Amino acid sequence: MRLSVSLLISSLWILSAYATSGEQKLCTLTASGGDDAPQFLKAVKACATVTIPTSTTLTIATRLNTTGLHDKHLDLKGTIRFVPDFPYWTGNAFTFPFQNTSTYWILGGKNLLLDGGGTIDGAGQGWWDQIPLNATIQRPVTMTLYQAKNVVVKNIRMINSPNWFNFVNEGQNVLFDNITINAASTSTEGAKNTDGWDTYRSDNVVISNSIINNGDDCVSFKPNSTNILVSNLKCTGSQSLGQYAGQFDIVENVTAIDIVMTNAGNGARMKAWAGAGVGSGRVSNILFSNFLVNNVDSPITIDQCYSTNATACAANPSNTYFDNIWFTNITGTASGATVAALKCSPDGRCGRVNVNDLHLLPGAGFNATYICQNIALTGNSASLFPAECQGVV
Ligand SMILES: *[C@@H]1O[C@H](CO)[C@@H](O)[C@H](O)[C@H]1NC(C)=O
Ligand SMILES: *[C@@H]1O[C@H](CO)[C@@H](O)[C@H](O)[C@H]1NC(C)=O
Ligand SMILES: *[C@@H]1O[C@H](CO)[C@@H](O)[C@H](O)[C@H]1NC(C)=O
Ligand SMILES: *[C@@H]1O[C@H](CO)[C@@H](O)[C@H](O)[C@H]1NC(C)=O
Ligand SMILES: *[C@@H]1O[C@H](CO)[C@@H](O)[C@H](O)[C@H]1NC(C)=O
Ligand SMILES: *[C@@H]1O[C@H](CO)[C@@H](O)[C@H](O)[C@H]1NC(C)=O
Ligand SMILES: *[C@@H]1O[C@H](CO)[C@@H](O)[C@H](O)[C@H]1NC(C)=O
Ligand SMILES: *[C@@H]1O[C@H](CO)[C@@H](O)[C@H](O)[C@H]1NC(C)=O
Ligand SMILES: *[C@@H]1O[C@H](CO)[C@@H](O)[C@H](O)[C@H]1NC(C)=O
Repeated sequence: MRLSVSLLISSLWILSAYATSGEQKLCTLTASGGDDAPQFLKAVKACATVTIPTSTTLTIATRLNTTGLHDKHLDLKGTIRFVPDFPYWTGNAFTFPFQNTSTYWILGGKNLLLDGGGTIDGAGQGWWDQIPLNATIQRPVTMTLYQAKNVVVKNIRMINSPNWFNFVNEGQNVLFDNITINAASTSTEGAKNTDGWDTYRSDNVVISNSIINNGDDCVSFKPNSTNILVSNLKCTGSQSLGQYAGQFDIVENVTAIDIVMTNAGNGARMKAWAGAGVGSGRVSNILFSNFLVNNVDSPITIDQCYSTNATACAANPSNTYFDNIWFTNITGTASGATVAALKCSPDGRCGRVNVNDLHLLPGAGFNATYICQNIALTGNSASLFPAECQGVV
C-alpha cells in the first residue's frame, strides 16, 4: 500500500500556496457581548487574515456560512463557542440529507488555513442532557468542511460537540494536523455520536498527529471517501476507526497507520449493511497498520451483515463488496475473549483479506477467540483463525 506520498506532497503544497498569496488585510476581533456571528462573518468576507486573540471568546448564537472563500487565514488563538439554543438550532442549523446531518458551521472554498492554538467549543453538554427529554432532537455537527479544497486545519482544540466534531463533506486536499478532541460529559447523560471525523464524498484527506477522547467513532469513512491517510492518532473511549457503508458507496485507498486505541468498542473496523433494500458499492485497498489496542472489545472487525440477522443476511447478502483489505501489525489486548471477528456476508462478498503480524491477547481470564465467517484469509496470521477461513480466494 503506497498512497501516502502524494497526499503528503499535496498537503505541503497547500501551505506554501497560502504563504505566497501576497499582501493581506489583517483583522482582529474582540467579543461584542452579544452574538458575534455577524462580525465574524463580515470579517471573514473582508479580511485575508482574521485573528481571534488568546483572551477572546466569540459567542456564536446564529449559524455560520463561511463557504466559497478564497485565500483566507483564520487565526484562532482564543475560543469560538456556540450557544446551545435548542429551538434556534433545530430550526436553523444547516442540514444535509446524508444521515440527516445538521451543523452549526459550514466552512468551504479554496486555499484556507485554520490554526492558531485556540479552541472550538460545541457546548455539547446541554444537548446531551436534552436526549432523555427528546430522543430525536437534532444535534448539530460542530464544523463541516463543505466543498473545501486545499484546506489545512491544524493546532486546534475542539471540545464537547453535540454530535460529530468534524464532517468533511465534498472536500478535496484537506489536512487536519495536531487536533485535540475532547468530549466529556459531566452529567449522567453520556456524550453521544461524537465522532472525531466523518469523511463523505471526499478525496485526498489527511488526518494526522491528533488526540481524540470521545464516545463514538474516532474516524469514520462514509460513502465515497477516497485516498485517505490517517496517521498517528490516539483514540480513547472511541467506538471504532473504520469504514461504514451506506448508499452507493466507494471507499478506496484508505491507510490508517500508527494508531493507539484505548478503552474502545472496536479497533480497526469495517462494516456494511445487508438485507433487503440496502445500498451497494465497493470498499477496496484498505490498510490498517501499526495499531496498538488497550482494552478494546473487538480489536479487528469486519461485519458485513451489520444490523442484519443471519437469515436476512443469507437471503440478501451485502451488496457492498470488500476487496484487498490488510490488517498488519496489530498489537495489544482485548477486553474479553474476542480478539478478531472477521465476518463477511455469504456468497463471496469479501475478496483478498490479509492478516499479518497480529499479536493480540484476550482480556484477563479469557481465552483468545478468532472468529471468521464467509472469508478466505491470507497472510502470516491466517493460521490463528478457524481452518475453514484459511486459504486463497
Ligand atoms: C452560503 O453562502 C454562499 C455564498 O454567499 C451561498 O451561495 C450559499 O447558498 C449559502 N449556503 C447556504 C446553505 O445557505
Ligand atoms: C431522516 O429523517 C427522516 C424524517 O425525520 C426519517 O424518516 C429518516 O429515517 C431519517 N434517516 C436517517 C438515516 O436517520
Ligand atoms: C424534538 O426534536 C425535534 C428535532 O429537533 C423537534 O422537531 C421536536 O419539536 C422536538 N420535540 C419536542 C417535544 O421538543
Ligand atoms: C499542537 O497544538 C497545540 C494547540 O492546540 C499547540 O499548543 C502545540 O504547540 C501544537 N503542537 C505542535 C507540534 O505544533
Ligand atoms: C459515489 O460515487 C459513485 C461513482 O461516481 C456514484 O455513482 C455514487 O452516486 C456516489 N455516491 C454518493 C453517496 O455520493
Ligand atoms: C487508488 O489507488 C490506485 C493505485 O494508486 C489508483 O490507481 C486509483 O485510481 C485510486 N483510486 C481512486 C478512487 O483514486
Ligand atoms: C508495529 O506497530 C508498533 C506500534 O503499535 C510500532 O511501534 C512498531 O514499530 C511496528 N512494527 C513495524 C515492523 O512497523
Ligand atoms: C430477521 O430480520 C428480518 C428482516 O428485518 C425479520 O423479518 C425477521 O423476523 C428476523 N428474524 C429473526 C429470527 O430475528
Ligand atoms: C481456556 O481454555 C482452557 C483449555 O482449553 C480451558 O481449560 C479453560 O476452561 C478455558 N478458559 C475459559 C475462561 O474459557
